[in-house]
Amino acid sequence: MIGPEESVTITAYPDGPLLVRGAAVIENSDGEPIPVSRRTVALCRCGLSTIKPFCDGTHKASGFRTDV
Ligand code: FES
Repeated sequence: MIGPEESVTITAYPDGPLLVRGAAVIENSDGEPIPVSRRTVALCRCGLSTIKPFCDGTHKASGFRTDV
């Protein structure tokens, strides 16, 4: 069983990215890990970020809207 300190939480931020909290491994399309320096990362879901898969804040200026 995974303990709370090992679990990963993904939160859909309203009108913005997916916030990933915990010890997640983010991989590129080849399955290679993408280095991350924080325990919380924001993954782009608007498709406009210049640093995909991470959010760079572009969603704000674009007027990206979500239902959740
Ligand atoms: S969700 Fe932030 S740039 Fe796409």
